[in-house]
Amino acid sequence: MSEKGGTCKTTLAVNTAAYFAQKKGARVLLIDVDTQGHAGKSLGIDVRTLRLNVFHWLTDAAVTLDDVLHPTSVPGLSVIPAYKELADLPLALANDERRAFRLADRLEKLSPRFDVVMFDAPPSLGVATSNILMATDEVVIPVATTYLALDGCAEMVTTVEQAGKTHPRGGPRVLLVVPTLYRKTALADEILAKLRHYFPDRCAEPLAMNVAIDEAQSHGKTIWDHAPWSRGATLMQTIADDVWARRPDAALPKSA
Ligand SMILES: Nc1ncnc2c1ncn2[C@@H]1O[C@H](COP(=O)(O)OP(=O)(O)OP(=O)(O)O)[C@@H](O)[C@H]1O
Ligand SMILES: [Mg+2]
Repeated sequence: MSEKGGTCKTTLAVNTAAYFAQKKGARVLLIDVDTQGHAGKSLGIDVRTLRLNVFHWLTDAAVTLDDVLHPTSVPGLSVIPAYKELADLPLALANDERRAFRLADRLEKLSPRFDVVMFDAPPSLGVATSNILMATDEVVIPVATTYLALDGCAEMVTTVEQAGKTHPRGGPRVLLVVPTLYRKTALADEILAKLRHYFPDRCAEPLAMNVAIDEAQSHGKTIWDHAPWSRGATLMQTIADDVWARRPDAALPKSA
């Protein structure tokens, strides 16, 4: 989650979800909660042609999980895609006092089917993001190592912490801050040093710029399928392993 656009939210969500399924043997559900539909697109799904997606699942009680759930080419990874309709979510839920809890309520009923549920958030705060905050226990914040990024990160941490006030289970916590789009420049190193100072126990290794990561997305593939031996895959694996190691133990299977 991050309010800033283009900070690698989708890239991290898709590849980490695939890593947990493929390499750790977890049953993973990835829910796209962004009108851009990039999580589904990154996994090779033509989200424009789907009759039902996450919007319908959240706004129409007659739409079931199986109506919107799609298997992917990654064994163990399913996705609920999103698309433009999601822009109508604030309007569709305007009269519902529990509008921020739609996702949490829907997920409560499907828990035995998955070991991990992950969300790809939009680059904005609003009803969609509120729904994620009420449904999740952990938040990962990618921070581009560019000017103004630190400012956005601090605000995001505050938003996550404030969500605890209305959260049924005490509120999500910031699991990890991930420096992204890293290039070896003086400015990027300065930002990296500050992130490590502010989050001494929760700052991941930086995800450097790597063309294989970009290419994988454009082919509708994960980095593990597109270029498993690339530097991008190595960097991504370090981050995915870090998230995996920090997960709450109880609900998850042992590593495969
Ligand atoms: N490590 C990387 N090296 C090179 N390109 C990258 C890397 N990580 C992400 N990208 C590219 O940067 C772009 C933005 O990434 P991504 O879509 O994951 O960001 P986002 O935070 O989800 O964006 P939005 O806020 O629009 O949802 C994509 O084209 C992606 O392929
Ligand atoms: Mg995105």
